[in-house]
Amino acid sequence: MKVYIGDSAIIAAMAADRYAELLKNKPNAILGLATGSTPLGLYAELGRRCSAGEITFKSVRSFNLDEYVGLDGTHDQSYRYFMNENLFKYIDIDIAATRVPSGIDIAAAAAYDDEIEKAGGIDLQLLGIGNNGHIGFNEPGTPFGSRTHLVDLTESTRIANARFFSSIDEVPTQAVTMGIRTVMNARKIILMAIGSAKAPIIAATINGEVTPEVPASVLQLHPDVEVYLDQEAASLL
Ligand code: PGA
Repeated sequence: MKVYIGDSAIIAAMAADRYAELLKNKPNAILGLATGSTPLGLYAELGRRCSAGEITFKSVRSFNLDEYVGLDGTHDQSYRYFMNENLFKYIDIDIAATRVPSGIDIAAAAAYDDEIEKAGGIDLQLLGIGNNGHIGFNEPGTPFGSRTHLVDLTESTRIANARFFSSIDEVPTQAVTMGIRTVMNARKIILMAIGSAKAPIIAATINGEVTPEVPASVLQLHPDVEVYLDQEAASLL
């Protein structure tokens, strides 16, 4: 793993440079995208560069990591809605070429990995990380060989995400997520983390044992992972 540390604007710009390089070399790249607060700076930077004519997503296809069960794409806490509002409306991607797992048609999850493979496989997968080490919604204990599947969310994840809902009772209890193997099949992976709350899990991910109890630790086994951290997230390395 290559680790880059800087303030949040710098790491957003550095990560955006990786996208610019990829899109220059492969305009029809397949992107694996993530939700959460961490990628917002990167998404703003990609929107800025696209508006400035520096990059184009016209031929890009995308597959998102995960979606809450029970929320359709018009729900303002669905991840489809998040992607439309925080990235897709600011770039020139064809919205029909963007995929987010369905939170309503759960059976469709079984075909998600095949769709990714048919599209040619993910060139660049973006990841945030949960305080418990989850990537996507692959909670601790998820087998490394997992494909896109239905998961029960842990209490800690529901509590962490309750800030976006009016009460914890409204936070869905299940999600559909790409599996660990789905993520590891990407040709390149960028993991981003911001803030001191992520420092312990970042240290465990990068320097700890590779174990399903820390799902992100599996990234140590991938040949091309870049990690972008602010100083707080990097403070225990
Ligand atoms: P965050 O979420 O970017 O909002 O911290 C990351 C995650 O839970 O995967």
